[in-house]
Amino acid sequence: MRKINQLLSAFLFCVSLSAVAQQSYLTAPGVAVFYPQDYDAAAHSPSPIFEQDLAPVGNVPSSWKIRPMYSVQDGKNVVRIPVDADADLYGGGEVWGPLRRNGKTIQFFNIDTPCYGVDGGSHLYQSHPWVFGLRKDGTAFGIIADNTWKSEMTTDAEVVFRSEGPAFRVVIIEKESPEALMQALVQHTGTMPLPPLWSLGYQQCRYSYHPDTRVKEIADTLRHYQIPSDVIWMDIHYMDQYKIFTWHPEEFSKPKELNDYLHSLNFKSVYMIDPGVKAQKGYWVDDQLMQNGYAVLDENDKPFVGKVWPGDCHFPDFTRPEVRSWWSTLYPPFMAQGVDGIWNDMNEPSVFGGPAGTMPMTNKHLGGDGLRADSHLRYHNVYGLNMVRASRQGLLLANPDKRPFILSRSNFLGGHRYAATWTGDNYSNWEQFMASIPMSITLGLSGQPFNGPDIGGFCGDSNAKLVANWTAVGVYFPFVRNHCIDGGRAQEPWAFDQQTLDVCRTAINRRYRLMPYIYTLFQEASVNGMPVMRPVFMADAKDASLRAEQKAFMLGADLLVLPRWAGDAQLPQGDWDIIPFEAADDGFQPYVALRPGAIVPMANLYQNTTEMRTDSLTLLVNPDAEGVAAGTLYEDAGDGFQFRHGQYAQYSIKAQTVGKKITVSLSKADGKLAEKSRTLRVGIVSDGKITYSPWTAGSEVTMKVAPDKQQGIDKNKLTFPQVPE
Ligand code: NOJ
Repeated sequence: MRKINQLLSAFLFCVSLSAVAQQSYLTAPGVAVFYPQDYDAAAHSPSPIFEQDLAPVGNVPSSWKIRPMYSVQDGKNVVRIPVDADADLYGGGEVWGPLRRNGKTIQFFNIDTPCYGVDGGSHLYQSHPWVFGLRKDGTAFGIIADNTWKSEMTTDAEVVFRSEGPAFRVVIIEKESPEALMQALVQHTGTMPLPPLWSLGYQQCRYSYHPDTRVKEIADTLRHYQIPSDVIWMDIHYMDQYKIFTWHPEEFSKPKELNDYLHSLNFKSVYMIDPGVKAQKGYWVDDQLMQNGYAVLDENDKPFVGKVWPGDCHFPDFTRPEVRSWWSTLYPPFMAQGVDGIWNDMNEPSVFGGPAGTMPMTNKHLGGDGLRADSHLRYHNVYGLNMVRASRQGLLLANPDKRPFILSRSNFLGGHRYAATWTGDNYSNWEQFMASIPMSITLGLSGQPFNGPDIGGFCGDSNAKLVANWTAVGVYFPFVRNHCIDGGRAQEPWAFDQQTLDVCRTAINRRYRLMPYIYTLFQEASVNGMPVMRPVFMADAKDASLRAEQKAFMLGADLLVLPRWAGDAQLPQGDWDIIPFEAADDGFQPYVALRPGAIVPMANLYQNTTEMRTDSLTLLVNPDAEGVAAGTLYEDAGDGFQFRHGQYAQYSIKAQTVGKKITVSLSKADGKLAEKSRTLRVGIVSDGKITYSPWTAGSEVTMKVAPDKQQGIDKNKLTFPQVPE
């Protein structure tokens, strides 16, 4: 009886405090903003999520389906949002676990989780308080909790947010399709800036390549084995005692010479910069930080000290505009040594031995530019976002005419405006290789198109079979970098045996050949937010059987990637045709199928993006039932910002069948760059075969085409020799 009374009073307590939103409005067609009673704007705004404030444009219609209910429970502000019980739910950003997120709880509390070992991997380095909902009829809805405070989210028939901070506003988006939902998301959160072309190439990393002679050796070996590649990465050992913006006096004594060497082989260099500044009088970065009073403060208003790689460190307070400006000034002299890109790591921030591996929640940030001074509890989740915001400013200061490339471990919803990401310290095993597919898709569905895992796995020793399989599939991810832990077994493509080397080379060759298509996808993402890597359900949002598919995935709208261990994958209906690439089947390369009605442009093979040429293009065509197909090609200088002034060329590629002949044409549709004179070859993909036209000068090819007999992918004719371990 006592228990029933307790339950009843708990229920009444909840009901009495439950309230519908006090104020609401539309901020765009199909985008509604709901505020709690007693909304304290200063506790949340300016929001890091949105590019601009959410101005009202009209009233929320009475027919609006999804509405939040606010309450307080156990001292936490809770928002309950009933959604269609049979909707499929996705999103939540960088999460471990299945693609379909129904019935899952995610903590929004960024942490350093070596080998995903903390709290069973239930939360990682980033937070994306965002739900992507898909109804049975293919219509979509989205939910954004505009809240940076430590919180958690449960996605079920009721989406529930529980926050340790004050009540917050919620944005609900209603759209007719998943594509329209993604576009509405980025209309508000902004798009990823177009990255430099080189950052889409293959990248080689480890913790760490040192000294500089070893770095050169890695570059030489990649070229020796003709593994197309663009970037070599420098982890913390290049620094002097792990002090940021310094060079190791013996091992990296001539950084400019090293970078010049890499450049001479058409490699770019990316160097790590962590937020922790070694607390040491006489070290210029720390001296400036201390003299200006720019560090995060502890609860007694003293500069907070916490341990990271260099020992005791101070941490810049990136909520402050003047600190971001100061931080940006550290980059120009550093980049002047020939540094091309920056890797911001440990920025949750990670503090060794700190509470929950970070700094105390009572630490203080001073804010500015309308952002009020507040506790670390509020700013913890956006420490990384504010850091990369400052770093981006720094890279632009250093090289105003180059597109910044920054890779960040920590981030928050909206942070794709400043940096790309990777999924942190995964493990060298099959479980994590397979999990990297839903993780990367989910990041894309959460507005972060430029992401990928450590290929081969970071923690533990990798092995030949894993590296071969992971590279074979990983080249179709947006970000492609092989990286491993200090002391871990070497896992470069050549580190095992001839077969692994060959498999990796074939896979990477394919990525480079597909680069015109991949770059076009990145440009599309930079304009309308469509993820580069997509879930298979985006091929047909009404096909309920595709909703949980997380082994196969899409690269853009036109290519479907089916790993050789994924024989049970659910595939979309329709006449998708597998592209028979030229190299012999090695049993590792995934099947890659072309959408009916699609045209994908491919370049001839080359060894790095500096050498990429598109004056000879192969156009892969899969005509639809009417013999029609279409595609796009975007080209510009690959770096710099002249594309913003029209210095680009967008081509429309069209195929039309008349009788037994198909004509494929490439014509400029937009941009000021002159149309290229090219040699084209058309490859008609049908019935598992490819029929090429001769190479033809000009912008149009006409060739004979035979009727396509087979309809769709027949898995019985495919082989799946790879068995996950
Ligand atoms: C942690 C990062 O996640 C990892 O990629 C890096 O190698 C180490 N820090 C060392 O810098």
